[in-house]
Amino acid sequence: MIKREQEFKNAIRARLSDDRYEHSLNVADECRKLAKMYGADEDKTYTAGLLHDILKDTELTKQRDYLAINGVTLEDYELMAPKLWHAVAGAFFVKEELYVYDNEIVDAIRCHTTGRRYMTLLDKILYTADYISKDRSYDCVDSMRQKAYKGLEYAVLEGLQYTIKKLISGRYVIHPDTIGAYNQTLREVLILEVAASSEAARDSRNEGVI
Ligand SMILES: [Fe+2]
Ligand SMILES: [Fe+2]
Repeated sequence: MIKREQEFKNAIRARLSDDRYEHSLNVADECRKLAKMYGADEDKTYTAGLLHDILKDTELTKQRDYLAINGVTLEDYELMAPKLWHAVAGAFFVKEELYVYDNEIVDAIRCHTTGRRYMTLLDKILYTADYISKDRSYDCVDSMRQKAYKGLEYAVLEGLQYTIKKLISGRYVIHPDTIGAYNQTLREVLILEVAASSEAARDSRNEGVI
């Protein structure tokens, strides 16, 4: 149990629908599970999971006003993608209203919908947990869960691919941070695959020797 768990739960309960509240609790639980698995700070990731959608059910005009009073000027491609606003607005909100000053938590909340080029371990865990939490039931969720437990980068890459395909087929804009996240995560996955294949080749050579 984190020190401010009840306070944070009350804060999201007051702002979210029943379903979104349940989703946030599920994402937080998944965050803790992945943090344990990948050696991240469990309390920080749990906190990020609890708070990541805190403004998702807030009216869009209010989200936009909140961004404006915090000095954020939305780019044209951001104005065209209101679904992304709650992440940036939520990051300001947890800092300004809930006094969460841990930048790792705040940044993970800020990029949980788009990803970003150099995602931290916490960013990757929150991004992935949001895709595979208990309440999720889209077509390839089982494959995403398998990937998440095999290696976070594989899951993040699959999530980005899924999102980018959906955005293109629906003729939605793609945020440049999503492209940056995709390029960087692809690079990380390719490096992991090269390392795994040279390890496999070394093992088979060793087997031959013995
Ligand atoms: Fe979200
Ligand atoms: Fe979410």
